[in-house]
Amino acid sequence: MPGSPKLIDKLLASLPKEQVNALSRLIELANQRGTAIYLVGGPVRDLLLDLLPGDLDVAVEGDAIDLATHLAAAADLRIVRHARFGTATVSGDGAHIDLATARSETYEAAGALPTVHPSSIDDDLHRRDFTVNAMAFALNGNAVGRLLDPAGGRANLDAGLIRVLHDASFQDDATRILRAARYEARLGFRIEEATHDLLVRDLPFLETISPARVHRELARTLLEREPERALLRLADLGALRTLHPSLHFDSELGAAFGRLREIGPRAVLTAYWPLVTWQVAQPAIERVITRLALTRRQADAARALRELRGNAPRPGASPSETASIFAAQPAAAVWALAAAASGAVREQAHAYMVTYRSVHPLLRGDDLPALGVPPGKAVGEVLARLRAAKLDGEVRTRADEERLVRGLARNDE
Ligand code: CTP
Repeated sequence: MPGSPKLIDKLLASLPKEQVNALSRLIELANQRGTAIYLVGGPVRDLLLDLLPGDLDVAVEGDAIDLATHLAAAADLRIVRHARFGTATVSGDGAHIDLATARSETYEAAGALPTVHPSSIDDDLHRRDFTVNAMAFALNGNAVGRLLDPAGGRANLDAGLIRVLHDASFQDDATRILRAARYEARLGFRIEEATHDLLVRDLPFLETISPARVHRELARTLLEREPERALLRLADLGALRTLHPSLHFDSELGAAFGRLREIGPRAVLTAYWPLVTWQVAQPAIERVITRLALTRRQADAARALRELRGNAPRPGASPSETASIFAAQPAAAVWALAAAASGAVREQAHAYMVTYRSVHPLLRGDDLPALGVPPGKAVGEVLARLRAAKLDGEVRTRADEERLVRGLARNDE
């Protein structure tokens, strides 16, 4: 592969100033120490695709933690070290660089984390998931500017193919099944045919992956711009039902993901998680929650959504009735309902989230004693009645509210 001097210009031009400074400092330090360093994996792929690289991943032919420690000291940045993997993250002030000792890996058991051995950049590239992620770009030394592409990643990038490097790749690490669908959907690529067959063959290896690792990959999938594309693909490939037989995903649910993005602020995206469990029936919900290692909040939302699907407000329920049902539920579950339910329930959930829940009476608790409500429990009750009346359009002005409160106070005498 000829050198790609332009790639370094592209890299520098695409990075914010703080990243350029940190990277220049790193190259300087590596040069002083005679250590070869490479930009590797995702950022190389993204640069070649003319996409903005995310985090900077740097492979070090030598001790990455030692180099990172010097960088952090020289540039006054924070460092987090992971001694077991020979990696460190240096960050602060807009800079963020992940450094890893170039390594080979051996998988002692399928699905378990590998044992790592310091090694050459070539070995480091050969241990990777897909050819398009198995490229490096020399940042210093004689090879500076050269693209290392031992597995034909560049050709696969051009052809839009996700391809594994060897036949046992999914067996070594079945999270790659989830990753393949994610890259395919994000980049608009296709899983290459032989890779597809290996993936399907090795679906049972998903069972070797711990719930925490499944969670992490799915969480990353849900951060994509259109996660439903990857989820649909995972359903088609049979991966979702291998994770748990009651996990399904179809284009209807995919459309609900799209609606969710349309109906609310970014915060509504917490509703992706309960939506993933939309089709899971009651008896299986706890097992799915465990398999996907949902956090307590995510699990509560998934349970609440299950519950709400059976006990939604009746059609034609008043706003106050609707509000009283949804108020006790996690917002993520109600957003999910607003995106995925049909007919009246969808509208009620939507109206609750965008309107009802922020409707409050003009009068406050402090105003009530002067209107004849004795301090204490009655204040809360009257406020709830006031709110219901306001939701249902029975009171509009402050004078309306005062009249209602006086009436309620008189009746209670
Ligand atoms: N990798 C791998 N096998 C895995 C996870 C990661 O080989 N199961 C390698 C890939 O080469 C990948 C790199 O480690 O490019 C970094 O992993 P990650 O940060 O997950 O991937 P990125 O490609 O940086 O992904 P993204 O663009 O989604 O951040």
